[in-house]
Amino acid sequence: MSEAAKKEPMAPRAVRHSFTLTDNETGDSYELPILHGNIGPRVIDIRKLYAEAGIFTYDPGFTSTAACTSDITYIDGDAGVLLHRGYPIEELAENSDYMDVCYLLLHGDLPSPEEKSEFDENITQRTMLHEQLVRFYSGFKRSAHPMAIMVGVVGALSAFYHDSTDINDPMQRMNAANRLIAKMPTIAAYAYKYSLGQPFPYPDNKLDYASNLLRMLFSVPTEEYEVNPVIARALDKILILHADHEQNASTSTVRLAGSSGANPFACIAAGIASLWGPSHGGANEAVLNMLEEIGTKENIPQFVKRAQDPNDSFRLMGFGHRVYKNYDPRAKVMQKTCHEVLNELGTSDPLLDIAMELERLALEDSYFIDKKLYPNVDFYSGITLRAIGFPDNMFTSLFAIGRTVGWIAHWKEMMSSAESKIGRPRQLYKGEVARQFTAVANREHTSRKISWAWLWGGQSNNER
Ligand code: CMC
Repeated sequence: MSEAAKKEPMAPRAVRHSFTLTDNETGDSYELPILHGNIGPRVIDIRKLYAEAGIFTYDPGFTSTAACTSDITYIDGDAGVLLHRGYPIEELAENSDYMDVCYLLLHGDLPSPEEKSEFDENITQRTMLHEQLVRFYSGFKRSAHPMAIMVGVVGALSAFYHDSTDINDPMQRMNAANRLIAKMPTIAAYAYKYSLGQPFPYPDNKLDYASNLLRMLFSVPTEEYEVNPVIARALDKILILHADHEQNASTSTVRLAGSSGANPFACIAAGIASLWGPSHGGANEAVLNMLEEIGTKENIPQFVKRAQDPNDSFRLMGFGHRVYKNYDPRAKVMQKTCHEVLNELGTSDPLLDIAMELERLALEDSYFIDKKLYPNVDFYSGITLRAIGFPDNMFTSLFAIGRTVGWIAHWKEMMSSAESKIGRPRQLYKGEVARQFTAVANREHTSRKISWAWLWGGQSNNER
């Protein structure tokens, strides 16, 4: 793709049909254009609906709403398809490496050999952290969750790199993108090392991305560290599988934060915060907690039953997906990678046996079949990462490292699109209307007692 074509602002595809909306109350009709993507469902263009009809649409969780146009990733959830810039995820995971995929997501095409080595160099040159930034770590509690540290340290990058916070300069945008991809493994590895009280190793730019990450996480200055190439390849695949996933919660968070003109480091910090939740990136850690809670194969039916009880908030972690109503294609690759890692390390993890049996039972159960709940990528990634030696609370940080390129690719796309405007959803107001204000002295006394222990969740002063 030419440089000029890359900079062209994206516009919705041609309108071929329209959609008629009729207000049964007033009898008024409105013609709404229908937009066609290159692939995927048609989209009703409701941009002028409020101006013309005075009506909002209601769609909590954006289950039927396209918030932007994008050229980056395509998902067909019913067919279990995931394409990055047109390439199936299975082929990318099998034949390329994470740097290849980063380039593809950022620039639109796979790199030529020269472009690849230039990109590799651009990333490896930026892997170190500013020494002042390294001092931030000592301000955290040793027990801090690595994601808590990552939100803080990534947000703080904007205080260090003033030469890449001018969002209107494409060169600065690219610098910020490269810096974030390069520094994320160092930031995450230091969060882990800090929790152990071990020294922070400098990155080794002779190593590839995944090998360098393994070395920063697991090496100690007193011993030689040799990277196991099978494990490095597995970690590289895990990063590829997590690189992008269209308009998911954290990517939408990055886009929404960026839509106000916030700098890229602040936007990615917002994305990390959103990823942390157990319904999103925190699910891989939650899967392991759940498997441990299940404990033995005999207990599985009881947990499968609990997951179906509408009065029980328990869900089978690692099952279901907002978009995939078929097998998550990433889960298939991850399942294979999981076995490769366990074979290489000679590990037999009883949790894997529980996971396999759980998968078998759930896939035979009418509740899961009817609701199209299949294992997602997180179902296997937790077990794989644990076998490699990652502590459970590092799983989501690894997801964040992999997803950084997706976040930044979407942010860059949004920043160079002529269509972008500040994100500002509307609401269906259900609160009080037109109340009369009463001065405090004239308000009725209430016997309601406020329990401070309840408000603070029973925490002591020290914990607040
Ligand atoms: N266990 C039991 N029931 C479930 C599960 C589950 N894991 N997931 C969905 N359901 C039920 C849900 O209770 C609902 O039932 P009903 O129709 O009777 O109300 C129905 O299936 C539809 O679920 P939903 O919550 O409306 O679906 P959603 O699209 O809003 O949620 C999800 C998607 C991923 C949040 C949800 O499936 C879930 O909580 N899964 C477990 C957490 C998990 O594994 N998350 C990782 C997602 S993949 C990683 C990523 O891409 O971030």
